Amino acid sequence: MFQLEPPHDDGLMIPEVGEHSKYKHHFIRRYIDVFTTAMKGKRWSGLHYVDLFAGAGIERLRDSGILEWGSPMIAAHAPHPFERLHLCERDEKKHDALTRRISLIRPDSQIVTGDANEQASAIVQAIPEKTLSLCFLDPYGLHIDLQTIKVLAVKRMDLIVFFPDRVDALRNWAAYYLEDPESNLDRCLGDSIDWRTRLREAPPHRQAEVLRDTYIEVIRTELKYREIDFERVATTSGQPLYYLIFCSRDPASSRLWRRIATRKPDRQRHFPWQ
Ligand SMILES: C[S@@+](CC[C@H](N)C(=O)[O-])C[C@H]1O[C@@H](n2cnc3c(N)ncnc32)[C@H](O)[C@@H]1O
Repeated sequence: MFQLEPPHDDGLMIPEVGEHSKYKHHFIRRYIDVFTTAMKGKRWSGLHYVDLFAGAGIERLRDSGILEWGSPMIAAHAPHPFERLHLCERDEKKHDALTRRISLIRPDSQIVTGDANEQASAIVQAIPEKTLSLCFLDPYGLHIDLQTIKVLAVKRMDLIVFFPDRVDALRNWAAYYLEDPESNLDRCLGDSIDWRTRLREAPPHRQAEVLRDTYIEVIRTELKYREIDFERVATTSGQPLYYLIFCSRDPASSRLWRRIATRKPDRQRHFPWQ
């Protein structure tokens, strides 16, 4: 499994993030490794990496102060290189820092700034036909519209999607999402399923599970992704935060995901009721 030396402070912007960010980097690094190793030279004319909420390229873990490579820089260091990286970051300062960092190793990358939901089609257009992509969608909250995933899914693409059940959907359920028909949760889940009734009727201890299964059902039926898996990410003390949802149309990719997901990040706990 490819390991990376931690980054140094290069004087550019480094955002502070929760310690749990290292858990998602654990999964993304491991999947990038097996994906680029196993798929290289197969029937695809190239492997591409897409990251629509890319960040600044380096992050500082808030409690330990440790520096970590962010997801686009992990992809840029892949030992079997992607053909091209396609990145989007809305924040201008982070976008500038990311551009300078990426240009040192993958100057051929497409890096756009703006809202991921608006930039997705420009990114899709830059990905050649007959290629296979890995796409990481990692916002802070419920900020990925279902429509955006539909735009991406016209290409052959495995997805790793951040699904913030605890950090957003359930935390804000009563105050925002229960009544507002134009909420972020509506844009995320669409209207093919009456998920409000499902959630209203679910006992509190089952709401996270109902929400997750509903999202998976939407992806499966509307986007025709048949291979779906998920990993719970929690704080270092075990408080559940969000899911990483893995989606593919290829059983071979799904087997790769299951292989890397069996090894959990250090100290990450998994509770049956999460
Ligand atoms: C959780 S961080 C991404 C971290 C990165 N994926 C990593 O693992 O290193 C989310 C990023 O999305 C950016 N962002 C938030 N809303 C966005 C939007 N609508 N479009 C594009 N980027 C957005 C934020 O500025 C932030 O840098």
